[in-house]
Amino acid sequence: MKTNQLPGPANWWRDAVVYQIYPRSFADGNGDGIGDLKGILSRVDYLASLGIDAVWLSPFFPSQLADGGYDVDDYQAIDERIGTLEEFDELVSKLHENQIRVFVDIVPNHSSNRHAWFKEALEAAPGSPARDRYIFRDGKGPDGSQPPSKLASHFGPEGWTQVPDGQWYMHLFTKEQPDFNWDNEEVHQYFLDTLRFWSDRGVDGFRIDVAHGLKKNLEPLPDRDSYALSVMKDDGTDPIFDRDEVHEVYAAWREVFNEYDPPPVAVAEAWVHPNRRPPYASANGLGQAFNFDLLASKWDADSFRKIITDNLEMSAETGSSSTWVMSNHDVIRHATRLAIPGYGESADGFGDEHRWYVENRLNPNLDLDLGLARAKAATLLILALPGSTYIYQGEELGLHEVLDIPGESMQDPQWFRGEGKLKSRDGCRVPLPWTSAGSSYGFGKGGAHLPQPSWFAQVNVESQEAGDSTLNLYREAIKLRKASFSTDSFKWLNLGPNATAFERDGIVCVTNFGKEGLELPSGKVLLSSGAISGGKLPGNATAWVSTL
Ligand code: NOJ
Repeated sequence: MKTNQLPGPANWWRDAVVYQIYPRSFADGNGDGIGDLKGILSRVDYLASLGIDAVWLSPFFPSQLADGGYDVDDYQAIDERIGTLEEFDELVSKLHENQIRVFVDIVPNHSSNRHAWFKEALEAAPGSPARDRYIFRDGKGPDGSQPPSKLASHFGPEGWTQVPDGQWYMHLFTKEQPDFNWDNEEVHQYFLDTLRFWSDRGVDGFRIDVAHGLKKNLEPLPDRDSYALSVMKDDGTDPIFDRDEVHEVYAAWREVFNEYDPPPVAVAEAWVHPNRRPPYASANGLGQAFNFDLLASKWDADSFRKIITDNLEMSAETGSSSTWVMSNHDVIRHATRLAIPGYGESADGFGDEHRWYVENRLNPNLDLDLGLARAKAATLLILALPGSTYIYQGEELGLHEVLDIPGESMQDPQWFRGEGKLKSRDGCRVPLPWTSAGSSYGFGKGGAHLPQPSWFAQVNVESQEAGDSTLNLYREAIKLRKASFSTDSFKWLNLGPNATAFERDGIVCVTNFGKEGLELPSGKVLLSSGAISGGKLPGNATAWVSTL
C-alpha cells in the first residue's frame, strides 16, 4: 500500500469543499503573463485562509492551448510555461502541510495532435498499430474525399479531419484533439500508468474530463449533428456517449486507486441524463460525479427544491455523496448568469447561455447587483447541503463574467469554431485580480494573457480582505459549515412557495427567491447574504439560523 496522499479517512471527499484553480489565470510567479505553479505556491496562504479541503488543478500539461490545455501533448509532464515536476512536488507538499488535498485533471477522451502517439500515427500506414490508438477511417465517395460520417464536433462543424494519405480521424472537439480508441489495450494501460504517475506524487483526487465519452460503438459509424442531452440515448446504447462499457474502464482505475492509502477519489465530468449518473459515482468506479443541475437551473424555489431532492435521493442510492457546483471554467460566472432574464427557462439548458451571450454580450443591460445577490444566496445554500461543493476561482470575490473581451483577444476555440452560435468561455478565465492597482492587478509582474477589466480595481482580493466582503462571506460560511455539520441529516421545511428551507444538525438554511422580505424562523442568525431587518430576510438572499 502506498501512502503519499494526505493521511485521513478513505471517505474524506464526501463533504469536501474543493476549489478549482485554472492555472493559467490564477497567479503568475515569473511575470510572463501566464499563471504558473510558482504563482500558486505564492498563494497557498490565501488558499488556506479560505478553509477549503482541496484544490483541483485544471490541466497544466504541455499543450498548444488549442482548447485551454484540454489538448494534452504529454500526460506525465508539466508545460514549461507553467512549471516543473519539482515545483509540482513542492506545491503538493506545501498544500498537504496546510491540510489541503490536490486533484489533477485527467483528459482521457482525446489527446492533442502533438502527442507523440498521434505524430507516430500520422507517420504510420493506414491499418497500422500506431493508427489503432486513435480513430482513423477511410472517407466516403469514390475517392474517399467525403468524411466517413456526418459527425459534428462540439465546437463547430466538422468531427472528422482528413490527413495527407486520405484517411480521416475522429475528434469530438477541435481538430487538434483527436479521440483515443478506448478498445486499444495500449491506451488503457497508458492511463493506468498516468494515474499511478500522479498518485505516486501524492495526488489525492482526479477530475475526469468527458468521462462519458471513452467507449464508442463505431459499427456503423454514427452520424450526429447535435450533442444536446435530448439527443443522447439514456439506456447505455448511445453510440458515442455514456455506454455501459465505460464503467469497465473505471473499475480498472479503481483498482489502481486502491493501491494507495487513502485511495484517491475521482469525480466524473459526465454530461449524461441524471438517471445515468449513479454508476459514475459508484464506489467500484470513480467515486463521485458532477451534478450540474443547479448550474443549468433558473432562479426559482421549486426548481432548486426538486433538483436538491432528486440529487440527495440519487446519492443515497449510490452510497456516494452529491456534488454541488454553480460555476466553473466552462460557464458564465454565476454572479452574471443569475442576472440573465429567462436563463434556464427553456428545455435546452445551456442553449440559453449560448444564445444570450451571442445576442447580448456587448449590450448586456443586466442588473449585476441582483446577479451577485443571487449568486451569494446560491452559494450559501449549496454550502449548507450534504455532499461536496466545488468552487471556481474568483467566485469567492463575487467576480462577474468579463463580457467586453475584444474579438481579437479571444482564445476559446468554441468562439472561433462555433459558427457564431456558441459563447466564448474566455470571460470566466480572465486572470484573477489580487490587488486594487499595479501590474495586472497583482496577477503577476508582466501583463495578463486575457485583458482584465477596469472594474477589477474595485473587485479584488486586497479590497475584500476586511469587512463584509463576498470573500469574507465565503470564508465564514466554509468555517461554519465545518464546525456545524457532522452528519448527512437533512429535512425540508415549508416556508412558502418562494423559499427553500431545510434543517441540518440544528441549523436552518433559508433562501428567499422572491422579492418581498421573508419571516425567518426563530433562532440565532449565524450568517446571512442579505441585510436582515425586522426579523425578515430580503429577497434573493440566504440565511443560516441556529435553532439549538
Ligand atoms: C470539458 C472541459 O471542461 C472543457 O473545458 C473542454 O473544452 C472539454 N471538456 C474538452 O476537453
